[in-house]
Amino acid sequence: MAILVTGGAGFIGSNFVLDWLAQADEPIVNLDALTYAGNLENLSSLAGDSRHVFVRGDIGDFDLVADLLARHRPRAIVNFAAESHVDRSIHGPEDFIRTNVVGTFRLLEAARAYWNGLAADDRAGFRFLHVSTDEVYGSLAPDAPAFTETNRYEPNSPYSASKAASDHLVRAYHHTYGLPVLTTNCSNNYGPYQFPEKLIPLCMHNAQAGKPLPLYGDGRQIRDWLYVGDHCSAIRRVLEAGSIGEVYNIGGWNEQTNREVVATLCAILDELSPRADGRSYAEQIVFVQDRPGHDRRYAINAGKIERALGWHPAETFATGLRKTVRWYLDHQQWLRNVTSGAYRNWLKQQYGA
Ligand code: NAD
Ligand code: DAU
Repeated sequence: MAILVTGGAGFIGSNFVLDWLAQADEPIVNLDALTYAGNLENLSSLAGDSRHVFVRGDIGDFDLVADLLARHRPRAIVNFAAESHVDRSIHGPEDFIRTNVVGTFRLLEAARAYWNGLAADDRAGFRFLHVSTDEVYGSLAPDAPAFTETNRYEPNSPYSASKAASDHLVRAYHHTYGLPVLTTNCSNNYGPYQFPEKLIPLCMHNAQAGKPLPLYGDGRQIRDWLYVGDHCSAIRRVLEAGSIGEVYNIGGWNEQTNREVVATLCAILDELSPRADGRSYAEQIVFVQDRPGHDRRYAINAGKIERALGWHPAETFATGLRKTVRWYLDHQQWLRNVTSGAYRNWLKQQYGA
């Protein structure tokens, strides 16, 4: 048996591949287009490991996906592949529509054709797990209850709208064609191998480089942070025991303002890697122009996955963030390699010279 993972060279996908192969011998076929966000260095520890088959390609390439499915006969597809950065979706939405909407549609089509051709037992066991986001539910008022799986979809950015569209397609393929799908909607992840355009790794990188730590607007926007390893364990659990056609929200019950996140990060850095001048990294915090249409608050109610599947996060924000800071301090070369030309161009576009 094998599973097909898409987007397995990105942040969450590569953590998933590494965790999966650390715990089981079932091979992974990893299909990734290696956009700016895909980084095979994340998977360098798997070099020569026959359980990991990497294929560079696009989820929107029906023929390629059909060929991979026919050759490797996976029992499941786990779809991480996406354009994932909200700010990029504001500057250039088209890639988001191409991959997140059209790409997911073509992947579903290839999965449907493959699943239809399986023998009865294999058909019954097959799963298509779609990895999605809490952003599809829109922005919460300060005192509103956390998102449950029945919240209305109210996406506000081109990114979240494209993810919402993909979720709807996945749902429709179950209701119309009977494809055995599972959907997960997770809150903000942090941890090893996150591309340094997202808040936490960006601030890690800038702090050490003596650069400003940019907070959008008043910095009081709220996100619900989950350590990436906990997201991976939740996906494994949903794949193993989730009910077909169901949606599972995944989160860490951990709401923080962006100010709090960056202040905590600075405090850990002050302790583990103090500035040469003895002052706090918090002095590098600056407030910059807000993100257009910036969602004020996300919060996930993870009650369903906890009750139905017995999943709980292993890390608190305090333990997870400390682990993450240590990881970045211990992997300076990884950070240097990632901050290549493409990344610098992006920084210039987003923050100016
Ligand atoms: P990422 O941007 O780090 O990685 C995305 C990966 O997908 C990259 O390796 C990229 O090369 C690949 N990819 C992009 N377009 C592709 C295509 N057309 N065909 C094949 N591969 C392609 O993203 P991430 O943060 O790891 O997020 C993974 C998934 O999880 C996404 O679907 C995202 O919406 C979802 N998600 C992310 C978070 C988070 O906090 N990062 C939270 C909840 C859900
Ligand atoms: O909620 C899940 C989502 O979390 C995922 O679906 C997305 O793929 C993922 O990128 C993430 O989206 P966010 O927009 O919440 O993540 P980001 O790290 O870009 O920003 C986190 C918060 O920090 C957000 O309120 C914007 C703010 N921010 C971000 C950057 C990059 C800043 O204040 N300054 C910054 O420089």
